[in-house]
Amino acid sequence: MKRTVYLDNATTTALDPEVLKAMEPYFFEWYSSPTHEYGHSLGLKAREALEESREKIARSIGAEPGEVIFTSGGTESNNLALKGLALTSKGKNHIITSKIEHASILNVVRSLERRNGYKASYLNVDEEGFVDIEQLKGEIGKDTLLVSIQHANQEIGTIQNIREIGEICRDHGVLFHVDAVQSFTKAPIDVEKMNIDLLSISAHKIHGPKGIGALYVREGVKLRPLIEGGYNEFGLRSGTENIPGAVGFAKAIEIVDESHLEHMRRLRDYLMKGLLEIPDSRLNGPKGERRLCNNVNVTFRFVEGESILLHLDIRGIIVTTGSACFSRTLEPSHVILALGLSHEDAHGSVRFSLSKYNTREEMDYTIESVRDVVEQLRQISPVGR
Ligand SMILES: Cc1ncc(COP(=O)(O)O)c(C=O)c1O
Repeated sequence: MKRTVYLDNATTTALDPEVLKAMEPYFFEWYSSPTHEYGHSLGLKAREALEESREKIARSIGAEPGEVIFTSGGTESNNLALKGLALTSKGKNHIITSKIEHASILNVVRSLERRNGYKASYLNVDEEGFVDIEQLKGEIGKDTLLVSIQHANQEIGTIQNIREIGEICRDHGVLFHVDAVQSFTKAPIDVEKMNIDLLSISAHKIHGPKGIGALYVREGVKLRPLIEGGYNEFGLRSGTENIPGAVGFAKAIEIVDESHLEHMRRLRDYLMKGLLEIPDSRLNGPKGERRLCNNVNVTFRFVEGESILLHLDIRGIIVTTGSACFSRTLEPSHVILALGLSHEDAHGSVRFSLSKYNTREEMDYTIESVRDVVEQLRQISPVGR
């Protein structure tokens, strides 16, 4: 039987069976809507489940329950944070972000530039993917409404110094949004200590269900809702609430254990070491504590990441590349290019993203397979060495 080694956990993860078990009663038994909390007992049960979940999520980031809005996931949270804020702003019309953000930030900022007269600054990053702090200080001006910087990068796992950026924002009286979709539960987050005003998170990256995420909104920060209707979620996101999703999200957070993180860290370093022994390979992103515990990204020179991906898939290994397949264009990854790599080297980058379910044996199989595939492809490569 062909085995599957799933190394695409930065895209999405398998649901944890414990999460499913927690969600199940809210599909079959207590499936009512919290809108009817004062009308009947099932409505009350739904309200209790929703508010307990909200409280657990709030506690995990150092926030108050009333500051957590449920959304459909990271993309919606990012949209609500940026558009919701920009569309209420009077006067300030400048946004600062970085060149390596996820598309759900970059495309929203571009859309605000095009349609709403916003000006935007896209910060450079260094060769490991850390944003240029001096450039940030220079770009903040009296028109700056918001700084939006991700906590950890989706392709190369760089963890930004959010506390330092938060301090700069506070000193300048500028609001600070953090896209923590990749880092949530993998790197510590405290909205108070880090001076974060808005924070996006998503359940399906942490073995929770798809279709649920949250946006933290600091008390006092005013947003315009993107979805209007019956005033659910404090008037910020109308529609019947996804109770099983909220319960599953909270459960997924509850079962995260430091030992899972340590397990992923060990496998990450083992895989990284094995892959970097392949000639003409290069690590993208930093090493050690400033890298996400589950991310390895390597450029194999003289071969295309796309070809590696397809050959690994035949062997049952699921990985991704930031280039063609992801963007559906032939453009290489904007993240890898921002590190200063050439187009050719950017095309040869492959991301391996781990979960608590991966094993050492799978890493051995992956290293051996990548070595074979890269060697074979180099023999027929038109680019040559
Ligand atoms: C950094 C980052 N932000 C936002 C998102 C979007 O999250 P979702 O898939 O929950 O919409 C992703 C998804 O890959 C991501 O990596």
